Amino acid sequence: MTEDTGHQQSAVEQAAEVEPFDMVEVIHTKRDGHALADEQIDWVIDAYTRGVVAEEQMSALAMAIFLRGMGRREISRWTHAMIDSGERMDFAALSRTTTDKHSTGGVGDKITLPLAPLVASFGVAVPQLSGRGLGHTGGTLDKLEAIPGWRADLSNEQMMRQLEEVGAVICAAGSGLAPADKKLYALRDVTGVVEAIPLIASSIMSKKIAEGTAALTLDVKTGAGAFMTAEADARELARTMVDLGTDAGVRTVALLTDMSAPLGRTAGNALEVRESLEVLAGGGPADVVELTCALAREMLAASGVDDPDVEAALADGRAMDTWRAMITAQGGDVDAPLPEARHVEQVRAESDGVVTGLDAMAVGVAAWRLGAGRSRPGEAVQAAAGVEITRHIGEQVRAGDVLARLHTDTPERIARAAQAIDGAWDLAAVGTVVPERRIVLDRIA
Ligand code: URA
Repeated sequence: MTEDTGHQQSAVEQAAEVEPFDMVEVIHTKRDGHALADEQIDWVIDAYTRGVVAEEQMSALAMAIFLRGMGRREISRWTHAMIDSGERMDFAALSRTTTDKHSTGGVGDKITLPLAPLVASFGVAVPQLSGRGLGHTGGTLDKLEAIPGWRADLSNEQMMRQLEEVGAVICAAGSGLAPADKKLYALRDVTGVVEAIPLIASSIMSKKIAEGTAALTLDVKTGAGAFMTAEADARELARTMVDLGTDAGVRTVALLTDMSAPLGRTAGNALEVRESLEVLAGGGPADVVELTCALAREMLAASGVDDPDVEAALADGRAMDTWRAMITAQGGDVDAPLPEARHVEQVRAESDGVVTGLDAMAVGVAAWRLGAGRSRPGEAVQAAAGVEITRHIGEQVRAGDVLARLHTDTPERIARAAQAIDGAWDLAAVGTVVPERRIVLDRIA
């Protein structure tokens, strides 16, 4: 029997009385370098989702995980607890098998745009639940919203119908999928705890496993423009995610890819759509085409399509036809002109040389400052803003040549963007032979 003290308790106080663990003890466990028990993990994720664990407590635990790490059992349990915090989708009713791709994020990474229709043109279903950009990396939904009329929000029924009829969908993930991750990711973002391997792996894989795809190809980036700048860390992240997917019954493969320089020649929403259309028309920059085709082959192999001629599907218009159907199904006008920026400023070379490196982070920050990205969730982005690179790795430069064009609707942003991109090009003496850039560094299965 509890004594009636006459004190009105808040919901949190009432819940705290019956909670099986004390959050401060859980924080101590990880802070002191010990493994969390399965029951502690299940409770932390559930209690945090219910609002019983306070943001500052979760922030302390996330930092302890960042500093102390987690073992394989802990990461797996944490991932499954986040999956169990929300709904699971099920594509079993579709007549096509599902195959999905996830990138850890980079500068100029528009690969999803040509990739989803390309893979779907081989008869499989590609459910791309995508996000918006935050910081220096762009978001797929922001890019597609540059197309007049295109809608990111679909109901589960609309998504299923489009997967059956068109084969490819790129849309916003519903709020019911891994809600614990939504809260935790937002917290990590403002407390300096994004770059922790256990937390990135569980964040990405909880959403992908809950989504219910049969196969998953991961594009794990390394280099200046990636979350994991060191290759050894990117490898460990890839291994961790492949193991999580495989253990959950999802056929999972990762490609380790270079993000030291931007992909292609554009960073910014409409600019990247334009470049993706070049790829879908059989052209486009070699690095974007190479990575699109490498990922497409992996996604199709995981779905039992052997030796697909993906280059032919780009060259003969099959991928473009699927793109047009996919964009039209989501309200987009495929023939409408893309927005153009009101102001374009040129960045010029000060000396002669050959480009040996181009700093992805500098280009990403410049695009962001021009208005292509947001600094707070929910902020509007400029569809036409971004960076167009006119001299990339391996190309010759003369003093006075245009290295890049900065696009924006708000000219007051240009000075800070120019500051960010200043010095982004590494130039060596004219005639220096530049080794060919490798995009796919390894495959981890
Ligand atoms: N993308 C995610 O979804 N989660 C992370 O933690 C990092 C990148």
